[in-house]
Amino acid sequence: MSLTDALILYRDSGIYPFHMPGHKRNSFTYGFYADCGTDITEIDGFDNLHDANGILKDGMKKAAHLYGSQHTFYLVNGSTCGILTGISACTNRGDRILVARNCHKSVYNAIEINGLDPVYILPQTVNELGICGSISPESIEKALEQSPEIKLIIITSPTYEGVVSDINRIADIAHKKNIPLFVDEAHGAHFGFTEGFPANSVSKGADIVVHSLHKTLPSPTQTALLHINGNIADITTVRRELSVFETSSPSYILMAGIDSCLEMLSKHSKTLFNEYKKRLKCFYDKVSGLKKIYLFCGDGDSAVFGFDPGKIVISVRNAGITGTELKDILLDKYLLQLEMATVDYAIAMTSICDTDDGFDRLAKALNEIEETLDFVPCDNKEQAPELPERVMPVSDSRRQSGHFVEISSALGEISREYIYAYPPGIPLIVPGERITKSIIGQILALTSKGVKLKSDFSRIPREINVVS
Ligand SMILES: Cc1ncc(COP(=O)(O)O)c(C=O)c1O
Repeated sequence: MSLTDALILYRDSGIYPFHMPGHKRNSFTYGFYADCGTDITEIDGFDNLHDANGILKDGMKKAAHLYGSQHTFYLVNGSTCGILTGISACTNRGDRILVARNCHKSVYNAIEINGLDPVYILPQTVNELGICGSISPESIEKALEQSPEIKLIIITSPTYEGVVSDINRIADIAHKKNIPLFVDEAHGAHFGFTEGFPANSVSKGADIVVHSLHKTLPSPTQTALLHINGNIADITTVRRELSVFETSSPSYILMAGIDSCLEMLSKHSKTLFNEYKKRLKCFYDKVSGLKKIYLFCGDGDSAVFGFDPGKIVISVRNAGITGTELKDILLDKYLLQLEMATVDYAIAMTSICDTDDGFDRLAKALNEIEETLDFVPCDNKEQAPELPERVMPVSDSRRQSGHFVEISSALGEISREYIYAYPPGIPLIVPGERITKSIIGQILALTSKGVKLKSDFSRIPREINVVS
């Protein structure tokens, strides 16, 4: 079957999308009709994204105004290109930077191509679910004391699971030392429009922020924003780096998608978010009786500073099934496609474009599935994640010759590849790091519970490429 046929089949299948993009395949709320007639290039009257002086400059100014930013750039290569740009613009080759270990793989790629020296910081652990919690401001403070030569801080907030960090305090700590704070807010483009959702990181003092519009708002896949604030990040350098990492043929259809999304928000955000909050509340009311399945919302957990109520994180830790099994049941029996699933939980992503019907279907399905499950108290004790020893920089490990070893006998070897579960794309191990017992344990445990891992050489979970 061709890709087009497969997409049409999926479109017409009746499967409801609790996944990205945030427009939820709902063309009415998407608000922009794309066809060949609107797919153009930089012709007269349509400006040039890489030297914007007309209609695109005006659009980006409006975007900056909407998010309260000094400068905002449209991105058509996702937050990925904003991350590569922002990190490259704020660092020189060899610089030391402070990186939350749960950052997206694009951060690791930026480190590699700029030859940076990362100091990793571990987020707190949410014991109840075994997921990454917030980054504590104290841990940032301590890392800056230990490594005063740090030139940039980059953290992810919210995480894929919706956990938010205390950006105000982290920005204060960074700025006392004149260090720019980069917040990967790819999953939080919808923040700051209403009470009950976290404020966006631009308003909390971050110097650089990326937003993937396509993840949580009605905007086409690949669309994102890069915001630059304060005077630490040099805007001319940002522009130059953007021209390196972003396509020289930006799609006008994607840019118009950004434009219409932001226009809609500037005119109707109050109504749209009020309706969205009502739908979410109604959904949570309908599932309030769940006892074996549990909906995580971070309440009362000291490892969680804030939480995105739009992320429905469905824990099955005490329900005798895995998150991947739950995801399969929801798809096969109820035609509900979730965003992701792993061992203990699955994620339904929601947005202002979700419908009453979609939420009703999910609530009904969860209540019905609950009836079929037994309460099985989980005796997993969460082990605090550990940082593997970094033996050499990523780029050095790439230059070494390598060979494959079976994963079970890889203890003590130096990895030549990344291994991660995608989504969320956070590496378990980075090239140049020594493979520990705990890493091997995690790879085997995740695989045995149906989580698909990815690696550069694609031989995981069987083999890993190591330095010879
Ligand atoms: C935390 C985080 N940052 C950045 C990205 C990259 O965003 P994009 O897909 O818009 O390039 C992702 C994608 O999944 C992500 O989860």
